[in-house]
Amino acid sequence: MDITIRLPQTKSEWEDYYDLRYRILRKPLGQPRGSEKDDGDETGIHFALYHEGELRAIARLDELDLNLCQVRYVAVENKQQGKGYGKVIMYAVEQEAEQIGYDKIILHARENALNFYLRLEYVNLGESYLLFDQIQHYKMEKEL
Ligand SMILES: CC(C)(COP(=O)(O)OP(=O)(O)OC[C@H]1O[C@@H](n2cnc3c(N)ncnc32)[C@H](O)[C@@H]1OP(=O)(O)O)[C@@H](O)C(=O)NCCC(=O)NCCS
Repeated sequence: MDITIRLPQTKSEWEDYYDLRYRILRKPLGQPRGSEKDDGDETGIHFALYHEGELRAIARLDELDLNLCQVRYVAVENKQQGKGYGKVIMYAVEQEAEQIGYDKIILHARENALNFYLRLEYVNLGESYLLFDQIQHYKMEKEL
């Protein structure tokens, strides 16, 4: 498979990256454009998975402290879910995190994604927060 995971490069690739984040993670919750971005976009490491040149999945890795990191904004294009892209981008994120030297990776999973992360051997630590008063999240972690 012709899969590449890298930073978006051109202005148009960056637009597609944030557009995917918006359409998959914010629009369904009735949130406005712009709500898909935060200050961590300046410092986080961005991952974009392209298959045959098309953007299929995204993720961002944030440092929490020297040993600990967090993956955020994991999303796969609507009609491309369930084809393995989520798993592949998560492995790339974990590999990078391990290389940087973090011991552990954490995340806050939506209820619908819990089983996806359990499948990737994340441990469920229980309820964390309610996003926009509607989406329950669960804190999960994995030793690297
Ligand atoms: C959740 C999401 C990132 C998973 O990515 P994906 O590409 O659809 O998942 P994959 O095809 O890589 O699945 C990997 C494994 O997890 C399983 N899996 C994926 N989603 C699952 C789900 N919702 N429930 C149960 N198992 C699931 C798959 O069966 C697969 O198992 P396998 O390794 O035995 O084949 C993606 O569906 C998505 O973007 N969903 C909408 C946005 C979202 O909820 N993002 C997460 C925010 S925390």
